[in-house]
Amino acid sequence: MTPSTRRPPLPETLAVLETRRSVAAAGLQAPGPDAAQTRRLLAIAARVPDHAMLAPWRFIVIEGAARGAIGALLSDAYRDHNPDMAPEKREKFAAIMGRLFPAPLAVVVVSRPVGGTMIPDFEQQLSAGAVCMNLLTGATAMGFDAIWVTGWAATHRAALTILGLIEGERVAGILHIGTATETPADRPRPDVSAITTHWSPPR
Ligand SMILES: Cc1cc2nc3c(=O)[nH]c(=O)nc-3n(C[C@H](O)[C@H](O)[C@H](O)COP(=O)(O)O)c2cc1C
Repeated sequence: MTPSTRRPPLPETLAVLETRRSVAAAGLQAPGPDAAQTRRLLAIAARVPDHAMLAPWRFIVIEGAARGAIGALLSDAYRDHNPDMAPEKREKFAAIMGRLFPAPLAVVVVSRPVGGTMIPDFEQQLSAGAVCMNLLTGATAMGFDAIWVTGWAATHRAALTILGLIEGERVAGILHIGTATETPADRPRPDVSAITTHWSPPR
């Protein structure tokens, strides 16, 4: 018998999960989430499994004029920290840093494992990954496009200082969110049967 508490299937949710794909940040333009949608997205992002309720993550929102301002700082920092690079190459990457936040909204998900608990850092980092995934799924369900990236700005000490990270914190992801200028082709997806086994007891 079907338990009375069984929730009905949600075909639209399944469709979001089955069709979501990333759009490169350079292809994301306005409109992006408004203030209320952004708050809602962050609440969705924070609704992830979290062993022992440590909330071992936080958000940094980058939007509006802050996008150009942080781009300029990252661009300068890239130049300063790559003095030996061929100037042409250095300028190319410095320019990329300057345009790093083209989408209307970026959310930096910061992983910050809580020490002195029974919960391994690895599990706390996995929870931060789930936060990133919820942001992607939530943005898609709201009708936006998004991508999860990392790279120099998410790993180099100078960039982390500009972002405002402190000791013990790492960037789990930079989530760029906006509206795709064009619909990109999907990429090949893994053959699930090739990576799935069914456990059975040893004979
Ligand atoms: C932790 C993490 C970091 C990533 N960093 C980058 C990145 O810096 N640049 C990039 O182009 N893609 C990056 N990706 C890959 C994209 O997020 C995305 O998976 C890829 O473009 C394929 O798109 P899909 O989401 O449609 O499968 C990263 C993915 C993960 C999980």
